[in-house]
Amino acid sequence: MISATCVAPVNIALIKYWGKRHEDLILPVNDSISMTLSTDELCAKTTVCASESFEENRMWLNGEEVPFEGSSRLQRCLKEVRRLALSNGSTKVPPAWKLHIASVNNFPTAAGLASSAAGYACLVYSLSRLYGIPLDEELTTVARQGSGSACRSLYGGFVQWHRGALDDGSDSVAKQIAPSNHWPQMHVLILVVNDERKKTASTKGMQQAVKTSQLLKHRVDKVVPERIEQLRDAIAAHDFQTFAELTMKDSNQFHAIALDTYPPCVYMNDVSHRIVSFIHDYNEIMGSYQAAYTFDAGPNACLYVLEENVPHLLNAIQKVFPSGSIENTTYLRGLSVPKVDNSHSLESAKQSKIDSLDINARNAFRYIIHTKVGEGPTELSADNSLLSNGLPLGH
Ligand code: DP6
Repeated sequence: MISATCVAPVNIALIKYWGKRHEDLILPVNDSISMTLSTDELCAKTTVCASESFEENRMWLNGEEVPFEGSSRLQRCLKEVRRLALSNGSTKVPPAWKLHIASVNNFPTAAGLASSAAGYACLVYSLSRLYGIPLDEELTTVARQGSGSACRSLYGGFVQWHRGALDDGSDSVAKQIAPSNHWPQMHVLILVVNDERKKTASTKGMQQAVKTSQLLKHRVDKVVPERIEQLRDAIAAHDFQTFAELTMKDSNQFHAIALDTYPPCVYMNDVSHRIVSFIHDYNEIMGSYQAAYTFDAGPNACLYVLEENVPHLLNAIQKVFPSGSIENTTYLRGLSVPKVDNSHSLESAKQSKIDSLDINARNAFRYIIHTKVGEGPTELSADNSLLSNGLPLGH
């Protein structure tokens, strides 16, 4: 029996991927750029195990067995990994051996965070370790076929997914723009919004957008190519002002396209919109961009903020969006936040403007996760395995 256990990160897009030019190969209509988040706070963990004695392929997600043959995306990833192993001359896993796979997220799936990106990146990375194939651009084409955004989670730091031009998708690859230590001060607050509604799945929403949104054509032809270049320059220069403006504008354009889709897709809710207003008010009071919001296909806000500005931003959030759970240790999760002492408190004029912001949204979030830019996937030692004798622990 051979096995590999790995963790892989979540990534959050700054320039969004929205729309495919090929459904099965998952080829996007535009390039996208994301930042990878630290696996210390959010990650998927996967064990893949191959054995001569397994009678069939089996898979468990968060402890529940799921049909292995049921997912065409999973089948495709596996087929591609086997093809790469063959072309690399790797014979570590005999073709007749079956697989057992277990995968968990260390964050609630209900939080609506990018779990498919981390999940497929982790699956493909773990398989690459098992089959003995290297992490390179070609491996990103495999993760892409699990879930588009997953290809960006194979690298740490700042990552660009190139749309590519070829019909077979071989040039639709993710490449690192800058490693995480290029801008380690880049922190993130994820505001997990209370929301019960079911969202339109990304896959379906983007299909409809490609069919019906005229705005999407303009975005793809004109807007994204310019923004990609500007954002790459901003990251290279540690220019938070440009970074923030591009990120917020791109989130807004993505949601405008969701509304321009017919019938429309609505992902943000009332609380999401209050967060947007708050960030604009806050930046204006502070006199420069201190925080930038972005929203994926759901109501949760992801705020980019430099480390030194986290304490003041968090104070303002707690002032404007008061929570009954504030004393609860699970309300603020992840990295700790230094208290603002008197010598660093805000000028009173700014503080009183923040105090008088009238957004009035009590208990708007379930909790807040504080994290930062992080590394790509890593392999863990065998004692971290999720499988024992090929079955999930506890079975
Ligand atoms: C809004 O990668 O989940 O998060 O390729 O159909 O699996 P599929 O979609 P998915 O879409 C992610 C969309 C997004 C933007 C982004 O991450 O770039």
